[in-house]
Amino acid sequence: MNNIDLRSDTVTRPTSAMREVMATAEVGDDVFGDDPSVLRLQEASAALLGKEAALFVPSGTMANQVALRTHTEPGDEVVLEATSHIYLYEAGGYAALSGISAWCVQGDRGLLTAEQVSGAIRPEGGLSHFPNTSLVCLENSANRGGGTVYSVDRLAQIEGVVRAHGLRFHLDGARVFNAAVAQDVDVATLAAPFDSISFCLSKGLGCPVGSVLVGSRAFIDRAHRFRKMLGGGMRQAGILAAAGLHALENHVARLAEDHRRARRIAEELSDVPGVDVDLSSVQTNMVYIDVTATGLAASHFVSSLAEQGVHLTAVSPTALRAVTHLDVDDAAIEAMLAAFSVAAEAA
Ligand SMILES: Cc1ncc(COP(=O)(O)O)c(C=O)c1O
Repeated sequence: MNNIDLRSDTVTRPTSAMREVMATAEVGDDVFGDDPSVLRLQEASAALLGKEAALFVPSGTMANQVALRTHTEPGDEVVLEATSHIYLYEAGGYAALSGISAWCVQGDRGLLTAEQVSGAIRPEGGLSHFPNTSLVCLENSANRGGGTVYSVDRLAQIEGVVRAHGLRFHLDGARVFNAAVAQDVDVATLAAPFDSISFCLSKGLGCPVGSVLVGSRAFIDRAHRFRKMLGGGMRQAGILAAAGLHALENHVARLAEDHRRARRIAEELSDVPGVDVDLSSVQTNMVYIDVTATGLAASHFVSSLAEQGVHLTAVSPTALRAVTHLDVDDAAIEAMLAAFSVAAEAA
């Protein structure tokens, strides 16, 4: 029986090489600031993204929430894309933990333009009625957009708007390495326009736990306090940081394989009668699959595939998502496509 899990790139299990570096990691007490592996991960992350400093945190959600809290004051407003993770999937943390409001703009496949960002910024000076726009956040790659990516040019245009208004600029870069590999650009180039970037070790990079927040030294010093406030201070976290260092050295370039496999799924499934995949949105490791025209519900595909040992998520009553990652190879893709054809036969 197959066991092919394409629900998310978060389902990966640490490789034996990763477990080995975790087992032998040098550790200390990171709340005292003396875990050498955490310090190494933070230094490597800052260097890789071209920023002064970094902070290791347990999750992507915490990295984003610490960033929001560090950049804003209660009563401020953040500009977000309407399907962004920060808006949709972080339990309203922006409101509860930072006391800020959100102006959400519907982008095109998760991506905003400079004009859209400009239109969402509150008028400056004078009117005490408005919240104070202080922060703009983007997501790259954009998960609900289909894993779509911001180009360097688009980021420069948006940065121009952000700087013209004296705002702060944060990137939810949970999958920024996918965005960099897909466009064959240095991740530091994608990070350059931003004041802060969060990225996840526990997604495409294949670690069991962990995210990193990077920015200026002053930003990270302030963020450190909010990580503590949110309960994110960890002790012998070097065991996890060692996995992160291993992933940064060994699991970045191979993301291209995940992208190639996602493309293959997308192209082959678009030939299945009644199945619709927007090929232009398949830019990294995600495939959103619309099954409306098959006349079958997404839940039918989820259960039929599960019976064949293949796991996908339904993202709406008529759409599914498949995500490629470290634990799926070409044979798994082959088996997934065969299982999908069987599921579609019920149409
Ligand atoms: C774009 C994006 N940002 C942030 C997160 C949050 O990461 P975590 O699950 O580690 O909190 C996710 C998780 O799926 C994500 O897709």
